[in-house]
Amino acid sequence: MKVLLIGSGGREHALAWKLAQSPLLTRLYAAPGNPGIGQAAELVQLAVEDHAAVLAFCREMAIDLVVIGPEAPLVAGLADDLRAGGFAVFGPSRAAAQLEGSKGFTKDICARYNIPTGAYRRFTAAEPAKAYIRDEGAPIVVKADGLAAGKGVTVAMTVDEALAAVDDCFAGAFGEAGAEVVVEAYLDGEEASFFCLSDGKTALALATAQDHKRVGDGDTGPNTGGMGAYSPAPVMTPDLVERTMREIIEPTISGMAESGHPFTGVFFAGLMITQKGPELIEYNVRFGDPETQVLMMRLKSDLLPILHAAATQRLDQVSAEWHDATALTVVMASRGYPGAYRKDTPIAALPDTQEGEMVFHAGTARKDGQLVATGGRVLNLTAMGETVAEAKARAYALVDGVDWENGFCRRDIGWRAIAREAEPNKV
Ligand code: AMP
Ligand code: GLY
Repeated sequence: MKVLLIGSGGREHALAWKLAQSPLLTRLYAAPGNPGIGQAAELVQLAVEDHAAVLAFCREMAIDLVVIGPEAPLVAGLADDLRAGGFAVFGPSRAAAQLEGSKGFTKDICARYNIPTGAYRRFTAAEPAKAYIRDEGAPIVVKADGLAAGKGVTVAMTVDEALAAVDDCFAGAFGEAGAEVVVEAYLDGEEASFFCLSDGKTALALATAQDHKRVGDGDTGPNTGGMGAYSPAPVMTPDLVERTMREIIEPTISGMAESGHPFTGVFFAGLMITQKGPELIEYNVRFGDPETQVLMMRLKSDLLPILHAAATQRLDQVSAEWHDATALTVVMASRGYPGAYRKDTPIAALPDTQEGEMVFHAGTARKDGQLVATGGRVLNLTAMGETVAEAKARAYALVDGVDWENGFCRRDIGWRAIAREAEPNKV
């Protein structure tokens, strides 16, 4: 099978690494890719925004499956155009990608199909939003409706903070994404991410993970795209997974189909585990980054037939087996991230890896033969372990083998799960 993978981050390196192990694979192409992905795939310089060029490439190479990694091409309708050209695509249509592209859209689906989530209202003007916030009081959450690179959410502990967030959104702080605002109830609990495939009618549960969004140790400092993750997330007991499938995922799949937008691809459900059980914070319609890195380490099954089955409405014919062990990844980022950082700083050395260890590339490039850091999040040092503590120790041993002067990372990835391991009855 010939596969084209779209994207260039650590998530795509993990997908490429796993796809490359498939005995069914004949050729793997990646556009645009990165030096790590280049170890597993042939890199092609395609402008991903140019859908006609992507289609022409697929025709020329007789591609059997296109796997779309990031959300931007999905929201731009790349999957629609490729499907219209007759290609099997892993990833939702533009209409179904609204589950990530519009928070108000997702909230309306939740309301219509009785999916547990915080109470909410949608607003297109500041004054009614502010009146609602004054009525509801704090804590309360203000969200720009559209894609805002993870920055459009304010969890306001005071009414004043929430009112200021409303003003920011309507003043254009998030551009078009803030033209509509969702105000929603604050949910209290522990967060977890749950991944599940859909082919439009059938669900295939994958696995759970927990990210670390804040830049600093102890969950301090500004939000980032994610500074490290582990899988499984111990907070997600089998009972909670079963409830998430029944109360959240299955009604979403049938609701999207009923609304005329059947969902093909991966649901990345951000959950809050509250006193009442799992509640939906948000959907992403693509794999998480860095969550995918730990998921792919734990996946025993061949990924290729699973993604192909999802893309061709045969998900009921496949299953996914997982290693019980924990996988943990530490993100190394450029100093200054998530703010401004220097580009093209040299990475002098990467560590050697053993079985159960991987260095995934996220924001790297090769310039004049030298590996350099081009992005905010740059490397994902990833390891398996029988316990979270063991996976953490191995991942940080890899971190210590990186020679990159401008890099930094959190030193406490996995702390919640390790606290649970240390005192299983307490947490
Ligand atoms: P989102 O971009 O929707 O994932 O929101 C970013 C982060 O804001 C989430 O990961 C949560 O930590 C937090 N958050 C979002 N919505 C809520 C909510 N209703 N209650 C509490 N925290 C929230
Ligand atoms: N790690 C969070 C995300 O991929 O959105």
